[in-house]
Amino acid sequence: KKPVIIDCDPGHDDAIALLLAISSEELEVKAVTTVGGNQTSEKTLNNAMRILSFAGVEGIPVAPGASQPLVRELQIAPEVHGESGLEGPYLPEPTFKPYGKGAIELMEEIIMTSKDKIVLVPTGPLTNIATLLLTVPNVKDRIERISLMGGSAVGGNWTPAAEFNILVDPEAADVVFKSGIPITMSGLDVTHKAQVYDEEIESIRLQGGKVSVMVAELLDFFAKFHKEMGFEGSPLHDPCAVAWLIKPDIFTTKHLHVAIETKGEFTTGATVVDYRGVTGKIPNTEVIYDVDREAFIKLLMDSLKKYH
Ligand code: BDR
Ligand code: CA
Repeated sequence: KKPVIIDCDPGHDDAIALLLAISSEELEVKAVTTVGGNQTSEKTLNNAMRILSFAGVEGIPVAPGASQPLVRELQIAPEVHGESGLEGPYLPEPTFKPYGKGAIELMEEIIMTSKDKIVLVPTGPLTNIATLLLTVPNVKDRIERISLMGGSAVGGNWTPAAEFNILVDPEAADVVFKSGIPITMSGLDVTHKAQVYDEEIESIRLQGGKVSVMVAELLDFFAKFHKEMGFEGSPLHDPCAVAWLIKPDIFTTKHLHVAIETKGEFTTGATVVDYRGVTGKIPNTEVIYDVDREAFIKLLMDSLKKYH
C-alpha cells in the first residue's frame, strides 16, 4: 500500500476524498491534517474528525494546521459548503480527540520515520504543506509526490483567473510548485469533467449503508450551489487527487511547467501552465486534463460500499 497523508479543509468534496482514500486497497492513510479554507480551521478540524467518526474509522491521527494563509487573510466558502463547512447530513460530534501535536509536527514524524516515501494529498489551500517545506526542508527527499487539488490550466472559479485553493494562499502554492517535488495537479480542467449527476446521487443513496446515505446527503447540499452556478452536476474536485493515485489509467495528463502568479492585478492565484513549452523551463507538474467520468463514479460508488 502506498502511504499517504491527506491535508484537507472539509468541505463536502474533501470529505468524499477522505472516504475514498481510507477505503482503498492501494492507499494507506497515515494521517489527516487540516487547514483553514472552505471554513475556519476549527471547523475543518472538527469536520474531518466527524467524518472519520461517522464512518467508524479508528486509529488515523487527525491534527490541526494553519488557521491563516502565509501572508494573507483567510477567505472561506460558506456559499458552497454552508456554515459548518459540511452542511446537509446530520453528523454527530467526533468520538475521538485530535492528535496531541500540530499538523506540521505530525507530518514530519510520519515522513521521517516511514519506510517508504510518502505521498502528500492536499485538497485545500497549501499553507500547511508550504510551512512544512519551509521549516523542515529535509522532508523533501522523503516525499515521493504531491497529488493536489488546485489550480487550472484555463480559467478560475473564484476569480476569472484563479481556483479557490490556490487563490486563498498563492504564496504557499508558489513554495510548493517551486519545491522540486513531483506534483500532480487535479485542477478545474479535470474536476469540471468529474461531475456527479442527480441520478447518480440517487444510486449512491440506494446503495444503502449509512456512509453512502450520508454522502448522498452531502451531495444534495453541494448540488444546490452548483445548480445556481449553471452546472448540470457537481464537480467532485478533491476526490480526483485521490482517484489518480488509485487508478491513474482513467486520467489523461500532460507533463508541463506550472508557475504561480502572486502579484497579478487581475490574475493573483493563477496557475500559469506552460502548455507550449515557451519558457523552456523543465516541467514540474503532471497536469490532469481529462477523466473517464463513468469509471471515476464507479470507483467512488464501490469505495463507499466498503463501509457497509
Ligand atoms: C476547491 O475549493 C473547495 O471549495 C473544494 O473543497 C475544492 O478543494 C475547488 O475549487
Ligand atoms: Ca477542499
